[in-house]
Amino acid sequence: MPDISRVGVLGCGLMGSGIAQATATAGFPTVVRDVEAGLLARGEGTIVKSLDKLVEKSKLAPAARAGALERLTFTTDLARLHDCDLIVEAVTEDLAIKTELWRALDPRCPPETIFASNTSSLSIGVMAAATARPDRFIGLHFFNPVPLMPLVEVVRAVGTSPAVVERTMAFARRLGKEPITARDRSGFVVNRLLVPYLLDAMRALEQGVGSAADIDRGMQLGCGHPMGPLALADFVGLDTLARIAAIMYDEYGEPRFAPPPLLRRMVAAGLHGRKSGRGFYDYASDPPHPIDLGL
Ligand code: CAA
Repeated sequence: MPDISRVGVLGCGLMGSGIAQATATAGFPTVVRDVEAGLLARGEGTIVKSLDKLVEKSKLAPAARAGALERLTFTTDLARLHDCDLIVEAVTEDLAIKTELWRALDPRCPPETIFASNTSSLSIGVMAAATARPDRFIGLHFFNPVPLMPLVEVVRAVGTSPAVVERTMAFARRLGKEPITARDRSGFVVNRLLVPYLLDAMRALEQGVGSAADIDRGMQLGCGHPMGPLALADFVGLDTLARIAAIMYDEYGEPRFAPPPLLRRMVAAGLHGRKSGRGFYDYASDPPHPIDLGL
């Protein structure tokens, strides 16, 4: 098997842009593919902003910033990923969309290319079954903000070869990340614990246990969390979180994973969290202030 030297990233949203930034900064020529030029431009802007922030804080040398940007290629053409050794998919959390993409990519790539999904909650094994390379299909789950969060979950599906697990773990380390391994069960390790906690904070808000600001301050000051659960839900994206919760509820059938009515209504109203400017907080003001949700 060839060493991983060229990386492809599918999707240039919150996670895809962060993953591309991490791989390019670590020295890998990286081809980023999304469906529209506008989405690519937005993702590139996010990467530039993040790299600038790291340079400003002296966490990255200006030459390393320039090198990372030079290693990035943005395209809408799936065929441009044909010579990548590893392809990380970070498109919307929808099994049909992901599966269709893998099916389209499979014949375009050499058999030794590793396919990795950044899904938070969908089955790696089901996606792998849509390709002719289930032994070279793996989960590689990053955390937001990718440039700062050290963890990566490496998920072995039923058919993943142990050698591919080892190579993917080694790749994660080359990105400067700390990998842990997890089984192919919805949510893996972190979201299985995190998602019910975030949903419970919403239920506490709905039930009037405390205000959004007090629930968040409580967990920050009482437990030393960098963000409270409602601010973190906004940060992850309420639409994404609702989708993850629904998938986990479907897999486990346990009420703790069920998206609370408040979350569903906020998503329907276009309150998608920080990326849309409004969620539990309004991000137009600095500091953001809690939104009156009519509770
Ligand atoms: N790129 C580069 N630098 C960044 C950055 C980015 N995207 N975002 C923040 N920073 C830098 C800031 O410049 C700042 O630098 P200094 O400390 O040198 O000043 C530092 O990070 C801290 O940022 P802020 O002062 O703006 O805010 P903060 O202190 O609250 O830190 C945070 C931000 C690192 C995001 C922190 O709040 C945190 O760790 N929050 C929890 C994040 C978390 O739990 N993520 C996991 C989400 S779950 C998930 O991703 C999985 C899933 O499938 C849903």
